[in-house]
Amino acid sequence: MISKQRLFYQYTVVCGIVQKAFLRFCKHLHEMLKKVAINEDSNKYHQGNIATMTEKLAETQYSVHEFISRRWSPRAFSDRQVEQEKLLSLLEAARWAPSSYNHQPWSFIIATKDDPTEYNRLLGTLVEFNQGWAKSAPVLILAVAKTRTDDGKTNRHAFHDVGLAIENLAIQATALDLSVHQIAGFSADAARKEYQIPEDYEAVTAIVVGYAGNPENLSDGLRERELAARIRKPLKEFVFTGKWGNTLPVLAK
Ligand SMILES: Cc1cc2nc3c(=O)[nH]c(=O)nc-3n(C[C@H](O)[C@H](O)[C@H](O)COP(=O)(O)O)c2cc1C
Repeated sequence: MISKQRLFYQYTVVCGIVQKAFLRFCKHLHEMLKKVAINEDSNKYHQGNIATMTEKLAETQYSVHEFISRRWSPRAFSDRQVEQEKLLSLLEAARWAPSSYNHQPWSFIIATKDDPTEYNRLLGTLVEFNQGWAKSAPVLILAVAKTRTDDGKTNRHAFHDVGLAIENLAIQATALDLSVHQIAGFSADAARKEYQIPEDYEAVTAIVVGYAGNPENLSDGLRERELAARIRKPLKEFVFTGKWGNTLPVLAK
């Protein structure tokens, strides 16, 4: 016969297991609903606003994924806020970039228009030309590279890997109908002072994120550039075989 004490013990163990399973189920459901919310939001935007966005599809020589052909760098941004879930999704995409020895040498400093003081601090590190158009976007990010490994050696691939993380971020942004414009025109020294960036780290690029806006809101010169066709060198100019400068035969035609 099972004693009352034993029965009570078994009862509490079973309750614990059920509770854990239930919590795991709730967490899973929450994650699923979050994903659905992001996708629905993106679909709504796609159906409702895409017609007002400037599309500048890449004219590709060979077919590529639509997120690659659709990505471009606008200077006109709408004042629509970037949803927190979407911003976190962009950073998650950056997190999963490959990197040499899996060093993951990237860090990101974020400033959003919700906090004007922080936003203006980051905006202030950009050169005047870039401040002029970037200030319409709701999110600014500073990408920073750890230029030395933990054992003090120079990481020759740090900037490369930060670039990979940023491209992941940019492609994820395209998938969510957001736009990204990267900026080299900023002061890395000003950024170091402003954010007390340690010696072994270096600010690489500033990144502007938001929903693409109306080019009509840009100055004449910038509007012209915004609407101009996107250009790239042909593959035959930079894909070689055998020796430097020898174009891959299939591309030479
Ligand atoms: C690392 C990097 C730095 C850039 N710096 C600036 C910049 O300071 N100002 C600017 O207006 N655009 C800047 N750009 C945007 C480029 O001009 C743009 O990516 C390029 O013309 C190709 O256009 P697309 O991105 O629309 O294909 C930068 C892009 C990258 C990747």
